[in-house]
Amino acid sequence: MTPLPDSIARSWQLVALSKEVRGKPLTRKVADTPVVLFRGADGRIAALLDRCPHRNFPLSDGRMKNGAVVCPYHGWRFGPDGDCLEVPGCELASGDGARLAASPVAVIERNGGVFVRLKEGQADLPDLGVWGDDDHDHFWWAQGVWRGRALDAIENVLDAFHTNYIHDGIIRRSNRRMPVHLSTNVFETSIEQVIEQPIPDLGWMSRMLEPPRDRSRTRLYAPTTVQARWEGPKGLTLCVSAFFTPVDAGSLRPFARFTTPKGRGPSWLKEAAIRLFLNPVVAQDRRALARQLDGIEAFGGPRFIQGPGDLLGARVAQLYQGQALEPGVEGPFIRTL
Ligand code: FES
Ligand SMILES: [Fe+2]
Repeated sequence: MTPLPDSIARSWQLVALSKEVRGKPLTRKVADTPVVLFRGADGRIAALLDRCPHRNFPLSDGRMKNGAVVCPYHGWRFGPDGDCLEVPGCELASGDGARLAASPVAVIERNGGVFVRLKEGQADLPDLGVWGDDDHDHFWWAQGVWRGRALDAIENVLDAFHTNYIHDGIIRRSNRRMPVHLSTNVFETSIEQVIEQPIPDLGWMSRMLEPPRDRSRTRLYAPTTVQARWEGPKGLTLCVSAFFTPVDAGSLRPFARFTTPKGRGPSWLKEAAIRLFLNPVVAQDRRALARQLDGIEAFGGPRFIQGPGDLLGARVAQLYQGQALEPGVEGPFIRTL
């Protein structure tokens, strides 16, 4: 199986929601690396490699004491920056705190999400605009760990043509399609697919729930963040900011943050409706990714060809691997969806 590219360790990866990091240390694996998350005495989030430097016991098995994590094996205690604060039964000499330290991991909290970066690299998260603003309602949907490759999940959300098949009847339909205009905007570190269509999709969910639509835009921000926006005559109707965190080469932990304009119904009702109706769609994609990986593994690795609907081509994989693209505008191309 193809190993994960270095770009994953060098970029900010969403590993948990803020609300999941409470009184106990929480372990999360990202890019094959277990990380332990906890809060220091001041409430700020901290991340360390989930390995005690002493005898490599997982620190996440431990407990918190005064904003520091205590290893269960011999009780060494580590602060938010990794420094060793205590070795039970022994006196620490000066310099021992740093010499006996656990390895700190760069961590930031943004809009209710906890992002870590394992190696020096990406300076900040991409600017995702509306996902944090007060004029909109937002909610998070954390998916847990899925079997599948993060790259294939990213391609899945960017790819409209699977919706007529995998989501036949719910989003679009395999036996009734409509002409749309597809265009592609290419930037150095992101790529955007724009679909312009006069009416909502022909599946029942789209027809029942979707307000009038002019276009949808789905944009990959390298390496693993995708934002999808649906726009009607009055502007944005729905925005989904999705984070496809690679756990290892064959599994991922997806998160999505849903953003809607304030005013159309109470936010809890919108959240309940979106979760209820999208649940079967998400389950279909989840199963598809697992089966796709079955197909890839059965033959010892991926071997893809690009079809006439794959307008983004290999560029999704290039961004995932941290390569820069040649900026440009392509299309519109007419296809039926
Ligand atoms: S292994 Fe952690 S204190 Fe010894
Ligand atoms: Fe899908």
